[in-house]
Amino acid sequence: MYSLPLIALASLATIALGALNNTLEYRLKTEVKPHQRGKRFYDSLYLYSYHTGAGLGDATFSRNSSLGIKGFLNPTNTSAPEAPNYVQEFDLGTEFAWSMYLAESDTAYSGWQPVRVDAGDGGSSTRGDGDGFFINSTGLQWTSAPGENASLDSFGGWIICDWWHGVPQLFFKLSYYDSPLPSSCADIYLRPEYI
Ligand SMILES: *[C@@H]1O[C@H](CO)[C@@H](O)[C@H](O)[C@H]1NC(C)=O
Ligand SMILES: *[C@@H]1O[C@H](CO)[C@@H](O)[C@H](O)[C@H]1NC(C)=O
Ligand SMILES: *[C@@H]1O[C@H](CO)[C@@H](O)[C@H](O)[C@H]1NC(C)=O
Ligand SMILES: *[C@@H]1O[C@H](CO)[C@@H](O)[C@H](O)[C@H]1NC(C)=O
Ligand SMILES: *[C@@H]1O[C@H](CO)[C@@H](O)[C@H](O)[C@H]1NC(C)=O
Repeated sequence: MYSLPLIALASLATIALGALNNTLEYRLKTEVKPHQRGKRFYDSLYLYSYHTGAGLGDATFSRNSSLGIKGFLNPTNTSAPEAPNYVQEFDLGTEFAWSMYLAESDTAYSGWQPVRVDAGDGGSSTRGDGDGFFINSTGLQWTSAPGENASLDSFGGWIICDWWHGVPQLFFKLSYYDSPLPSSCADIYLRPEYI
């Protein structure tokens, strides 16, 4: 008989093995979580980087799939493949890589924070945290505490809002706040659509 923790470890290992195959490229596509009325227009949008400066961008969305940028997971600590700890990298056709960064400390005491897609290889940057990504059955996830007790994780899920660029924009919620969302926002999954 397997105990529950062993089953949990086994399924994590399966996820890590799949994610290590970075020949598997995908576009990230929105799926509105259930039980949200009048938010269907946020479904099936593709993630791209909204230019905000040289090598800098905010994570935004378009219905046009050909604008969706190609992403893959890159392991940051191969000695601990069971700890979900990948960089969410993107190939924008430049000589350098782009990566997703979660700007966890953009606005103090805020219930949610913005997400960047900047030039870079992940890791810690002044623009945010570029490690701790993984993919499970509900799509792209992030953890602020890779390999640690889930109670230490500040990730509370992805949201989409019509915000400061006038196009749908990606944010993430902090698990330790329970701020109600503005009506222009919706809770979403970020599903990989493999290419
Ligand atoms: C990685 O994924 C690609 C595309 O599905 C597949 O062709 C290839 O065999 C995989 N490589 C490994 C090492 O699993
Ligand atoms: C989608 O984007 C591509 C690439 O920029 C562009 O050529 C095409 O016209 C766009 N399609 C629509 C329907 O806007
Ligand atoms: C990689 O993970 C292992 C096991 O969790 C840990 O001991 C090691 O310090 C990590 N290395 C880096 C560079 O983070
Ligand atoms: C996927 O990961 C997220 C974030 O850690 C977690 O909340 C969710 O329960 C996971 N889903 C499954 C099916 O394990
Ligand atoms: C994780 O943290 C919770 C809350 O602090 C604690 O009850 C639980 O025992 C911890 N689990 C492990 C495996 O350490």
